[in-house]
Amino acid sequence: MTYKVAFSFADGKTLFFPVQSNEILLDSALRNGINIPMDCREGVCGTCMGRCESGHYEMDYVDEEALSVKDLEQRKILTCQTRVQSDASFYFDFDSTVCNAARPAEERGVVTHVEQISQTTAILHLDVDVDGQQLNFLPGQYARLQVPGTESKRSYSFANRPNAENKLQFLIRLLPDGVMSNYIRDRCKVGDEIRFEAPLGAFYMRHIEKPLMLVAGGTGLSAFLGMLDEIAERGGCGQLVHLFYGVRQVTDLCELKRIQSYADRIPGFTFTPVISEKGQDWTGKQGFVPEHFDAAAMRETSFDMYLCGPPPMVESVKTWLTENNVASGHLYFEKFADSNT
Ligand code: FES
Repeated sequence: MTYKVAFSFADGKTLFFPVQSNEILLDSALRNGINIPMDCREGVCGTCMGRCESGHYEMDYVDEEALSVKDLEQRKILTCQTRVQSDASFYFDFDSTVCNAARPAEERGVVTHVEQISQTTAILHLDVDVDGQQLNFLPGQYARLQVPGTESKRSYSFANRPNAENKLQFLIRLLPDGVMSNYIRDRCKVGDEIRFEAPLGAFYMRHIEKPLMLVAGGTGLSAFLGMLDEIAERGGCGQLVHLFYGVRQVTDLCELKRIQSYADRIPGFTFTPVISEKGQDWTGKQGFVPEHFDAAAMRETSFDMYLCGPPPMVESVKTWLTENNVASGHLYFEKFADSNT
């Protein structure tokens, strides 16, 4: 039996395609050329999430990290786990153009520059040649880089926007003894080839309809540099944009000039760096980032929040929002855990 399925998107476009009964929705979408963003394909990451607006369906497996009980009540679904049981329509909270982005592929880049830009961070520049094509990704997504000379892979958010020259940047957190950190510190040189898989991840900039609050922890800044580059390139987004950037020590701060330059290129852009460790030579904001949120103002204004950083930081912001009864328009977050090796 074949059902008719409609996918509608934030830009108002609707795409129709047939789905076989008992077929996974994501598989049929991909087969019909609709590249819904995805990652794990196992119901865990939440990347392929949509919302059912009509019709019947069932899901195979849903991890509670991917969809909460409330999400399920709101008929949110994971396309990688959904089988439709009737004609159905689904809504996705991003523009249809996102589905034109390429599916993850293995690529190769060449190191053109590498530099330590703070006590704990390096920036890696790669040039990529994809048969003369532009490498498609969405600002905020990430790539999984293979550490040269090893089988180890590590994930890093793109620190710039997609561009015709395929010049990529990544912020790399330097661990005392990490496989990528050791490579960057000890062996990395211009001309090295680095293989990577991209684009990956559901953390990317959506259609901007509300003020944006961006909250970065450590090298979580990387994803926001990509988003802010994109907004700056467009000459702004017609909304206020505020970036909170939390790090442990003053010497962990990086890319400050670049961040400050967004104020010239993005009308309504403001920025608050926050240092968590006490006793630092620092006259700016201190403590944890949520301590500097303005609960009253945030309750009065509808805004979208993007969070990217280590899991404790993401959890502390989410807890703060709940405890302070602040319901932002949309909350998008990416937790990244530093690999110890
Ligand atoms: S791709 Fe990860 S939940 Fe569907």
